[in-house]
Amino acid sequence: MYNSKIIGLGKYLPDHVVTNDDLSKMMDTTDEWIQERTGIIERRWIVEGSEDTSATMGAKAAKIAIERSGLTKDDIDFIVFATLSPDYYFPGCGVQIQDILDMPTVGALDVRNQCSGFIYAVAVADQFIKTGMYRNVLVVGSEYHSGGLDKTTRGRGVTVIFGDGAGAAVLSRTEDNTKGILSSHLHSEGKYAEELTVIGPSIKHWVPEIIEANDAEDTSYYPYMNGTFVFKHAVVRFSEAIIEGLEANNLKKEDIAMLIPHQANLRISQFIQRKFGLRDDQVFNNIQKYGNTTAASVVIALTEAWEEGKIHDGDTVVLAAFGSGFTWGSVIMRW
Ligand code: ACO
Repeated sequence: MYNSKIIGLGKYLPDHVVTNDDLSKMMDTTDEWIQERTGIIERRWIVEGSEDTSATMGAKAAKIAIERSGLTKDDIDFIVFATLSPDYYFPGCGVQIQDILDMPTVGALDVRNQCSGFIYAVAVADQFIKTGMYRNVLVVGSEYHSGGLDKTTRGRGVTVIFGDGAGAAVLSRTEDNTKGILSSHLHSEGKYAEELTVIGPSIKHWVPEIIEANDAEDTSYYPYMNGTFVFKHAVVRFSEAIIEGLEANNLKKEDIAMLIPHQANLRISQFIQRKFGLRDDQVFNNIQKYGNTTAASVVIALTEAWEEGKIHDGDTVVLAAFGSGFTWGSVIMRW
């Protein structure tokens, strides 16, 4: 049986840095509140007029990941693109990657699993490789949040958290079953869909309806999050997904060399770190610099951890995420 492993990683962040103090000029918030509740110090936001979008940022990250893999764009057999902020309502961003990178007419699939998007996307790519259908799969996570946030005091509970950015990984076939993706575990609980959502525009709440209502109080097209409720579920589900992955591989928490949690809130990462008894150097966080980049966050963090030499040959690396849906999951890898 084939296995899959990551052979190339890349990231792209827009240059424009938005500090907490910058936000406090737009809305009633403070650097102290944001840092204390979330750990975030600054994030990147695309500037108006920039050519960056979820698709173009994803393509920039993908180009780097492909170069570092030693492959060329022509060697990629399939694209999986995870985002909640696609350039178009449809089609998805995956097809744009095929075009921007001038790739052969390979298949392209978009994954709509928000903060768990990269975990789901890796799981999909892994299965295609394990069955022997594809040899090399490009997985991209990218988000352009800043264009769709409510940058007034009304939106402060959500807006201060999110940042823009992209990451990408190339997964490739290996016949060495001791290395690579050992397992993925995915979950959902749709009854909580509206606890963290953008309601409209959607088929249920369509553009003409929004325009006709002309209601300045309508916030349905901004992200809504029941923050405390989401937080409470996140800490439980993160832990469950990690334990499930470890148990499936007969591993113990002591075997974790590096945990890369979705960067939703530094307090969630710290809670998980304490729960699993991990040292600071065993948990990688960069939310302080980038905020929550949703489907891009795990792959940007994985890329940085690798770039900084924090992941070594033979390490057990755990990826875990929780987010809107609710969806959650984990991937266990041997590097
Ligand atoms: N600045 C100042 N005050 C604020 C801000 C702000 N930016 N935002 C909210 N407040 C106020 C609120 O109005 C409230 O005031 P009140 O007590 O007078 O009513 C008070 O601060 C507390 O608000 P809470 O929402 O209870 O704050 P909480 O401590 O829960 O922190 C946060 C909010 C950071 C969002 C937290 O709940 C959280 O991180 N939740 C989980 C996020 C998560 O994991 N998301 C999943 C991934 S995202 C995805 O899938 C798209």
